[in-house]
Order: sequence, then C-alpha cells, then structure tokens
Amino acid sequence: MRYGRVLRSEREDPAEPQPARDQGVEHVRWFSRIPPAAEVVPSPNIWYHQQAYEVENRAQDVDGEIWRVLRAEHNWTAADVLDIGCGDGYHLPYFARDARSVLGVEPHPPLARDAQRRVQDLANVRVRKGRAQRLPADDASVDLVHARTAYFFGPGCEPGLREAERVLRPGGSILIVDLDVTSEPYGRWMRTDLPHYDPPAVERFFAAHGFGCRRVTTRWRFADITAAESVLRIEFSAKVAQQAIADVRRLNPGPGEVTVPVGYRVHSRGKPTGLVLPGHSAASPDSPGSSSTSPRIE
Ligand SMILES: C[S@@+](CC[C@H](N)C(=O)[O-])C[C@H]1O[C@@H](n2cnc3c(N)ncnc32)[C@H](O)[C@@H]1O
Repeated sequence: MRYGRVLRSEREDPAEPQPARDQGVEHVRWFSRIPPAAEVVPSPNIWYHQQAYEVENRAQDVDGEIWRVLRAEHNWTAADVLDIGCGDGYHLPYFARDARSVLGVEPHPPLARDAQRRVQDLANVRVRKGRAQRLPADDASVDLVHARTAYFFGPGCEPGLREAERVLRPGGSILIVDLDVTSEPYGRWMRTDLPHYDPPAVERFFAAHGFGCRRVTTRWRFADITAAESVLRIEFSAKVAQQAIADVRRLNPGPGEVTVPVGYRVHSRGKPTGLVLPGHSAASPDSPGSSSTSPRIE
C-alpha cells in the first residue's frame, strides 16, 4: 500500500487538492524520508485515485478477518468510535451498524467532504476535518480509536498517540491496522519500493508504547484482473506494479475472479479502567514500555 511521497515543495499544502500525479514521478514513500513532524502524511493512492481506491477497499479482507480481530480486541457495540484518517469514509458505515456513535476525522478536505456524503443518511455518524495530532474531540469522549493504514506508521506518530489517549475513556482501546510488510507476496512488493523501511523497528516502536501486535492473513478479491491491475498501479511504482501484476497473473491463471494474499498487523492498546497505583504503570505514550498489558506479537 502506497503511504506517501515527498512533498515537492515546502509551500505545497498537503491538505489541499493537488493535480493527479504522473505515474512516472519519483514515488518516494514517507517511511524513509518524510520528516516525522509532517502534519499530514500524503496518501497519493486515495488522494489522486479515489475510484481505484474504492475498488481496493471493496476488494480488501473479503473474509472479514481484520474485522474479527478488531472486534475480539474491543467490541464496539453501543460504543463511541473514532476513525482517524477515515479517508472518504469507507469503514464508517460498518462501525455505525453497532456503535452508538461514529466520528470520522480526515485532514484532506475533498475526502472529508466525500466521507460526509457517504454517511449523510446515517444518524449516528459524523465526519470532521482534522488530523491525528489535534483531534476534534473532547477528552475522554470515545471508547474506541481506530486507524487503518493512516498516519500511525511508527516513529513520528507520538503526537497522534498522545491525542488518541486523551480522547479515550478509561477502558477504551486504540486499534491501529497497517500492512504486514513481512508477508508474501504483497510485503515483498512493498519492500522493493521501500528499501529503508524496517518492519522490526516499527514493531519495537509500538511495543515500546505498550501495544500488542496481531498478524492477520487476508485475501483481496477482485472481479477480474483489470480491477486488480488498476489497484496495483496506484499502490506501487510503475516497475514494481509490473512485477506485482505478473505475480498476480501467475497466481490466478484462469479467467474471472482474482485473489491476492495480503497480510496486516493490528496494533492494540487498552486504556486502564481504574486507578493506576505507583509502581504499576499504565500504557501511556509518554511512558514508552509501560503498559498494563504485556505487549505481544503473534
Ligand atoms: C491510505 S488512506 C486510508 C483511508 C482510510 N483509513 C481507509 O482505510 O479507507 C490514509 C488517510 O490518512 C489521512 N491522513 C494523512 N495524514 C493524516 C493525519 N496527520 N491525521 C489523520 N489522517 C491523516 C490521509 O489524508 C488519507 O485519507
């Protein structure tokens, strides 16, 4: 999944719409170069290729494995849910089925507007323009903070972790979904485009901030190879997309539906419900490594 690119100039406002990028431009991912303090992490996939990203979202996790893990970590029935970096709101209606309320927060104005449009008939969902580092939500006002492939990619996301902790009620949870760059074949394509990305370092970062980590194996399923190709082309550089398309064709030799195995990680951290006594540390972004639950990697 393509997470970002270097901003072309310091004057460029990443939150404002930019013209679609030529696929030939250098696509350098945020992992390696974007300064940690970057306010908004550029997402060329959904910013400039929203239609293809909708195809991608529909194709993702067709067996509902991520949802199962999320629900096992924190059941949001009758809860107040916050989705940070909600994009055009694809996941909001799913939470809204069972949640008491859902708040989607998105910094990129055109996406925030489209997310609003998507949920306009859902009485328990709101969308606000905002960013992870300064959430438009009151202290202790939500039970579950969710972010999927958005902003929380490891070192540099501490301000967002602090904000998530601020808005969480005691007993609440932060659940962060990102791609497992060590899984095959999708992870291999990502690693080729992201030679400096260090998956163990990212896992150490989350563990040091009190998160557990569960690996989830999923399938993406597309109606046909054309749909799969349209998505691979927005996620990878031209060269890697070509390789990925060749691999996917090999995995799916016949006509019709196309599936691609894709691994994810779910990083989860609970906020303690009761008093924390001296010597008994609570999970807090300001006290890395201190957690009320043992970090685990599965
Ligand atoms: C790859 S998209 C994922 C969108 C959505 N979560 C989904 O799964 O469909 C990443 C999103 O994070 C947003 N984003 C970038 N920087 C952010 C920040 N600082 N705070 C919150 N969201 C941010 C982007 O604008 C983009 O919509």
